[in-house]
Amino acid sequence: MKHIVVLISGNGSNLQAIIDACQQKKINGTISAVFSNKADAFGLERAREAGIPAHALAASEFASREAFDRQLMQEIDAWAPDVVVLAGYMRILSPAFVARYSGRLLNIHPSLLPKYPGLHTHRQVLENGDEEHGTSVHFVTDELDGGPVILQAKVPVFEGDDEDEITARVQHQEHAIYPLVVSWFIDGRLKMRHNAAWLDDVQLPPQGHAAE
Ligand code: GRF
Repeated sequence: MKHIVVLISGNGSNLQAIIDACQQKKINGTISAVFSNKADAFGLERAREAGIPAHALAASEFASREAFDRQLMQEIDAWAPDVVVLAGYMRILSPAFVARYSGRLLNIHPSLLPKYPGLHTHRQVLENGDEEHGTSVHFVTDELDGGPVILQAKVPVFEGDDEDEITARVQHQEHAIYPLVVSWFIDGRLKMRHNAAWLDDVQLPPQGHAAE
């Protein structure tokens, strides 16, 4: 059985989608543990509800980002995960953390990368009058939201949309594509090589797998 560790900071709806996919055997693996940098993250409750060990680490108890990440790495490594999945984990990673899990560290970012790395993507889409928005699952590298894209989902932006509406539309897609990408990884179909994503030994284009 392959082992997944998930990191969260908040609601954990993407975590829930991955929990559900594991339970439905759409992912041939199991979530060993969930970690949060926020003790009140609702995702911790989702994990416990599913019988998954869930722990919070408080940044205020560590002298530096490196010290926090060292502790987190130790706790993650106790589960010997095959893949570490960032699902709304709102903390900058130290280079040591990225290096440790390089090639088995996934993230989901709510924009059509390389557009809008960083925060407030939905707001920027509205402010710029974009007609299209979406989300990207990518391998994590040292460049913030800059690692190779694996899969994107696009959503339309309608006139009069507010931030909540497009957020919900994007998240609906996230809950479909993130479990799918995790399943590809768990099945050994997905790799990161030479700073590119490869699916079934085919190098993916910059916008990721072209879904039909
Ligand atoms: C998602 O929209 C994800 O793209 C971003 O943070 C959000 C997390 O939502 N990185 P949730 O905690 O999974 O509900």
